[in-house]
Amino acid sequence: MLSDALENFLADRGRPTPFLVLDPAVVVDRYAALAAAFPGAEILYAVKACPHPAVLRALVAAGAGFDAASPAEVALCTDAGAAPERICAGNPVRGASATAACHTAGVRRFVTDSPEDLDEIAAHAPGSDVLVRVLVDDSGSATPFSGKFGATPAAAVDLLRACASRGLVATGVTFHAGSQQTRPATYAAGVATALEVAREAGLHRPVLDIGGGLPVAYRSEVPGFAEFAAAVGEHDVRLVLEPGRALVAEAGVLRTSVLRVSRRPGVDHRRWVYLDAGRYQGLAETENEAIGYPLRTPGRDGPAGPVVPAGPTCDGDDVLYRRTPCSLPLSLRAGDHVDLLAAGAYTASYASVGFNGFGPLPVHVVPAQD
Ligand SMILES: Cc1ncc(COP(=O)(O)O)c(C=O)c1O
Repeated sequence: MLSDALENFLADRGRPTPFLVLDPAVVVDRYAALAAAFPGAEILYAVKACPHPAVLRALVAAGAGFDAASPAEVALCTDAGAAPERICAGNPVRGASATAACHTAGVRRFVTDSPEDLDEIAAHAPGSDVLVRVLVDDSGSATPFSGKFGATPAAAVDLLRACASRGLVATGVTFHAGSQQTRPATYAAGVATALEVAREAGLHRPVLDIGGGLPVAYRSEVPGFAEFAAAVGEHDVRLVLEPGRALVAEAGVLRTSVLRVSRRPGVDHRRWVYLDAGRYQGLAETENEAIGYPLRTPGRDGPAGPVVPAGPTCDGDDVLYRRTPCSLPLSLRAGDHVDLLAAGAYTASYASVGFNGFGPLPVHVVPAQD
């Protein structure tokens, strides 16, 4: 179900495509729903999911803090009105100069997962609060992270214990259960691991930062926030969440136009539908078909049949879905619109700046409704 503001905006079929349109009011609603499910928790919006200033300003006004991966993201947050003390530098591979720049901007909370990074934080962000990211099971997520980030529990304890001698404050433990994580039990397991790390490191009333990962109902239902809150449970901690996708996905629609519908006899029994946006114009999360956006074809209905949607570039990878079943009206023609729904997260921020001459994805924001 799209917001009235998004539907009203999309009712004008004359705008050049492709584009992403965002409704910040939907983000605020999702923030409120999450805050209600996790009373007392601090919610840090993961800026990378959709760094548009209108989204950031709406979240500042709603009371959110921010998880920023780079000095540029920190600047976006402070430009939107966020206080630096509400920003966590959550990317453990940010590098020394970025750590220094975040510190200069007033950030005093850093996530780490390696002794090398801890040394950099000590050198370039002296006296800061440190959270250690611990490796957890992230199976069940559409885009796992553990292959790249996270210290083992034993190494995480060592990192926390090493803080004091470096003049840093061991504050708590964080993990990321993988993005689009549909199993509440994964959070329960992550929380148990994180609490054990905090206990072994001797932390009193630690920050327990359960990261992002909360899922969105793209093509199938997912457990609601309350089920994840029940899995997390109640503990003597300062609870923090870092949602990205779950706050912004449903606030956006990516409108494309059909460039061509081709039959490919001898190659595929399905029609191929080439759109004017693909893997490089915001649909990066179709890689490995990780995210299956719901599709709709405004103005076209009637009998439908299987299609392979593909992007406009000359790259062989620029095919959205080969395995994920897609069915579009048989009447679909070049020039028709295909809307990708729940596309507010990880789209505009992932779009290439000019691959094959296709520019970055334009973003519109709906006018505020009375
Ligand atoms: C450190 C961190 N926190 C939070 C998030 C947000 O994750 P999600 O969009 O799955 O909620 C990410 C995503 O990359 C992340 O890297």
